Amino acid sequence: MSKLWGGRFEGGVDALVERLGESVSFDARLAPWDIRGSLAHARMLGDCGIITRKDAQAIQRGLKDVLKDIEAGKLAWDQKLEDVHTNIESALVARIGDAGKRLHTGRSRNDQIATDVRLWARDQVDTILQLLKALQLRLLDAAEAHLDVILPGFTHLQHAQPVLLAHHLHAYVEMFRRDHERFTQLRGRINVMPLGSAAMAGTPYPINREQVAKELGFEAISANSMDAVSDRDHLIEFCANASICMMHLSRMCEELILWSSPEFGYIEIGEAFTTGSSIMPQKRNPDVAELVRGKTGRVYGSLTSLLTLLKGLPLTYNRDLQEDKEPVFDTSDTLQLSLEVFARMIPSIAFHRDAMAEAARAGFMEATDLADYLVTKGVPFREAHGVSGRAVLYCSKQGKTLPELTLDELRVFSPKFEADVHKVLDAKAIVSRRDNPGATAPRRVKAALKLARKRISK
Ligand code: ARG
Repeated sequence: MSKLWGGRFEGGVDALVERLGESVSFDARLAPWDIRGSLAHARMLGDCGIITRKDAQAIQRGLKDVLKDIEAGKLAWDQKLEDVHTNIESALVARIGDAGKRLHTGRSRNDQIATDVRLWARDQVDTILQLLKALQLRLLDAAEAHLDVILPGFTHLQHAQPVLLAHHLHAYVEMFRRDHERFTQLRGRINVMPLGSAAMAGTPYPINREQVAKELGFEAISANSMDAVSDRDHLIEFCANASICMMHLSRMCEELILWSSPEFGYIEIGEAFTTGSSIMPQKRNPDVAELVRGKTGRVYGSLTSLLTLLKGLPLTYNRDLQEDKEPVFDTSDTLQLSLEVFARMIPSIAFHRDAMAEAARAGFMEATDLADYLVTKGVPFREAHGVSGRAVLYCSKQGKTLPELTLDELRVFSPKFEADVHKVLDAKAIVSRRDNPGATAPRRVKAALKLARKRISK
């Protein structure tokens, strides 16, 4: 094997080292961003008189042609050329000759890859932000279409208190809103240009970093060349944000899986998002939810990979950093696919209001309100809690629900019960009484949904 940068060597490289070191098999996807960066760099070199304008123009034309070849699938990526940068540079030289050999003046693959990845990540974040908005909108549609549906709210996966389905769905909107906020903040930290740091100390050429940054849409240029070529914080953050977002999706997956089981029967997921079984003809499995829940694990894995990759690295660039690509690419692909499939699956879900209402009648969820009723009659809450608990025990022994108890039965537990008690035990009344900002009363939920929609359209 001959060596790629062979000047100072006498011999070649071991075949296995070539396999170990190549990255073009996965970093070729950075080509459009690599070329965008090179176009700006070449123009700047020409404008600053570091190379002739003629050469700069030849390089720019050549790079555009190389990009066309890549997009047409006509560039034969060569593992011997190691990475995306060298493959493109070599294709450029093959096309335009000596001018192409001047492109790499005043830069290194170290600041080049750091720039490519930031440009790529910025675009991925923009897509993810759109996908997060779309998913929130589908959840809001579902919430608004079911404003009168009541279901059990759970703590410890035990019936707790009745809530509006819209309130439950809005909880997820809030999670994805925070994810949106996190990715928006990250975008600002990604949008800092490392180019001009060269190998790690900067370059002696009179480059104009501001010009390149402006052309590439970077909001700022890095302040320290050593940090700039070895910083991967933004990729770790990308994976951290993705992990949190996948965790949110995964929690929803778990509920969709539970809710679509015959034991709950709250929902039916659309046929297009479920699958059959190879052996059991009756099955309709919530595979999409299970797969997204499963994929959450690989995204967490990527976060751990990157944190571990970076923890022992001395300044500045180390070849280890080449290992950042696959986890971050996989994370981006996985998150985008998961968000997209979810936004399509949500509208396919049929919510079974009767099953939810039926479930809301079970589990003595009126018990808190029964105690609160006694509080309005002057009983201290702690005492009222005990009375209500004894009524629940009685009901469970008698096979009755709390609303089914007659006034006489209730009076056995407290003389403070009066004829008006039954109105407070109705699920609708229970929900409506929770009438504070952020609570489940219909008018509060409606206001929350409205605000959520407004924030998305901003
Ligand atoms: N493929 C390398 C990476 O992903 C590009 C930078 C290579 N730099 C070097 N000095 N070998 O990190």
